[in-house]
Amino acid sequence: MCGIVGVINGATVAQQLVSGLRNLEYRGYDSAGVATHTGSGIWRHRSTGKINELEQSLASVLEDGPAGIGHTRWATHGIPSQANAHPHMSEGIAVVHNGIIENFAKLRDELQSNGACFTSETDSEVIPHLIAHYQNQGMDAIHATRAAMSRLDGQFALAVLFEDMPGTVLAARQESPLALGYNEKEALIASDMLAFAGHTDAEMHLGNGDLAIVRRDKVIILDPDFKTVDARWTENKTTGQVQCLNGHDHFMHKEIHEQPAILSDLNGHDDQWCQMMAQMPDAMVKAQHISVVACGTSYYAGMTARSWFEKYAGISISVEFASEFRYRAGAIRPGRAGLFISQSGETADTLAGLRHFNNHGCPTIAVVNVPTSAMAREAEMAVPTRAGSEIGVASTKAFTAQLATLLRLAIELGSRNGTLDTKNYRRIRREMEEMPNLVREVLSNEHIIKSVTSLLGDCTSTLFVGRGDCYPLALEGALKLKEISYIHAEGFAAGELKHGPIALIDENMPVFVLAPDTPLLVKTSSNAREIAARNGKLFVLTDDDEAAGFKGEKGVEFIKMPPCTEDQIPFVYVTALQLISYHAALDRSADVDRPRNLAKSVTVE
Ligand code: F6R
Repeated sequence: MCGIVGVINGATVAQQLVSGLRNLEYRGYDSAGVATHTGSGIWRHRSTGKINELEQSLASVLEDGPAGIGHTRWATHGIPSQANAHPHMSEGIAVVHNGIIENFAKLRDELQSNGACFTSETDSEVIPHLIAHYQNQGMDAIHATRAAMSRLDGQFALAVLFEDMPGTVLAARQESPLALGYNEKEALIASDMLAFAGHTDAEMHLGNGDLAIVRRDKVIILDPDFKTVDARWTENKTTGQVQCLNGHDHFMHKEIHEQPAILSDLNGHDDQWCQMMAQMPDAMVKAQHISVVACGTSYYAGMTARSWFEKYAGISISVEFASEFRYRAGAIRPGRAGLFISQSGETADTLAGLRHFNNHGCPTIAVVNVPTSAMAREAEMAVPTRAGSEIGVASTKAFTAQLATLLRLAIELGSRNGTLDTKNYRRIRREMEEMPNLVREVLSNEHIIKSVTSLLGDCTSTLFVGRGDCYPLALEGALKLKEISYIHAEGFAAGELKHGPIALIDENMPVFVLAPDTPLLVKTSSNAREIAARNGKLFVLTDDDEAAGFKGEKGVEFIKMPPCTEDQIPFVYVTALQLISYHAALDRSADVDRPRNLAKSVTVE
C-alpha cells in the first residue's frame, strides 16, 4: 500500500506534492512526508497522522525547490511514527517506496556490517542505503539504482531524489503500480494518476522492471538491460472534481446515496454490452467453470453473484479469496475461466490471481471500477462497474455497482449460451429497472434505521445472519460494521448458528436477521426464534414482519424493507446494512471515511 508522488517543475513543488498526497490518502494515512531539492541540497519533512497534519506542520518550516517526492504511509514494517515515515535517506539520496521488500532483514545486516546507520524499523530504508552503497563503489545514480533494484525481493514502486541531480527524479517499479504524467509545466510521478487529477495532460504506466529518468521536459525509460523503452502516453481524462462532498457530512454517506443514480446508469449502456459480448472470448462463453477471485467486499459481491451465474448462465462457480487462491497448486484447470472483481483494480492478491490465470492461457475477465487500473489493463476483457471514484474507505456504491454488473454479465452470458430464454431475460431487465426506486425507498427511511441503530448502545459484539443470497449480505453487513464502528461483528449462514456460534448468544448480543419474504423465510424465522429463546436481542430486516413471525413481539426491533424479488434483495438489503454501519460509527464518533488501520487500495500481500 502507501502512495508515492514526485513532481519536477523547475520552480516550487511542495504544494503540488501535498495535493497529490491528499488524493492518494486512500492508499494509507498513518503518516506522511516529503523531500524537496532546494537547489543546494535535499530538505526533508515527515509527520505522523493524515495529510492535513503534514500540511499544517510544513507551513512554518518549508524549504521548497524545483523537484520533490512525497509519501503517504500504511504501516507494514514498524509502527506509524516520524522515524518510520518516508522519505528515507542515506548520503544525499531520498527514497519513497510503496510495496514490501521481503529480503530487507538480510540486506540490512549486510549494509550495517558495511557501516550503514539505520534510523527506522522499516523494510524501505534498505533502499537508499543500498543505492548509496553502489554509488560508493563508483556507480552513477542510474546504475546504482538499477543495481539496488536487482537486489530487492518483493514488490516496489520507488521515486528517488539525488542531491547531485537537482532537476531529476528516478522512478522505478517491480509489481507495484507506478504512473508518469505531464502537463505544460510539470513532470509527475504517482502510484495512481488520480493524485494529479485535473492537472495531467497525458499519462503512462511504467512497465514491470522499468526505470525512468524523469525531468521536467524529458522522460527516458530504461528496461532491465538498459535499453530505451518507447513511452506510450495516453491522454488523461481524469477530472479534478473527484473529492467533493455535495452537502453530505462524509464521503461514505454521499456514496451510499449515489447508489440509485448509479444503478439507473448501469441499466443503460446496451451498445457497450453488445460490443463486449461480441468480443467475449469463446473460451469464456463456453467455460464449464468460472473461478471468481476477489478480496473483502468484492469477494462478497462474487459470493452473491454465484447463484446468478449458476441459475441464469448454467455455469458452475467457485468463489475464492484471492490471498488463498494464488497459492493453491492445481486451482487452475483446462476449461476454467477466471473472473476477477475489484473496485480499485490494484489489489495485490487479486492481481496476482489474474496474472496466474493469464500465465496458464485461461480466459480472464476483470470487473473493475477504476478503468485505468492494472487489472483493467491486464485482463483479456475488462467490464467497467461505472460507480465513479469511491473515496470512503468502506466500499458501498462500488459493491452495488459490482452486483448490478455481475447480474447483467450473468444474464448476457446466459442468453448467449442458450441457458436463459428471452422472457426471463426481459423479466430480469425489468426488475433491474425497478432497483433504483427500491434503493431510494430504503434511503428515505434512513431516520428510522438511524434510531433503531442507536439501540445498539455500547454493545461490543454483534452477529448478522441470513440464508441463501442473504448469507453473503450478512457477511458484508458484519464487515461494514466492524471496519468503521470497531464493534466486533460476524456474519453467519443462519442455519449454521446451531453448529457452534449460538453459544455466543445472550442478552448482550444484538443479532441482525436478514429475513426477506422468500421461500427460505420460514427457515430463517425458526433460526431467529432460536436466538430469541436464548435472550439474543433481535434486529429483523424484513418486508413482512407477520411472515417473519415476530409481529408485535416485545423486544424485537424491525427495520421495514420494501417488498422485492429475489434478485433485488441484495441491492435493497445491503443499502440498509450500509446505513446501519454508518450510523453506528457516527454514534461512536469514529472516522467513517478513514477508519483506523485500513487503506482503500491494498497493494501489498
Ligand atoms: C471493505 C472494503 C475492502 C475491499 C477489498 C478489496 O469495505 O472496501 O474489503 O473490498 O480490500 O478491494 P478491491 O475491491 O479494490 O479489490
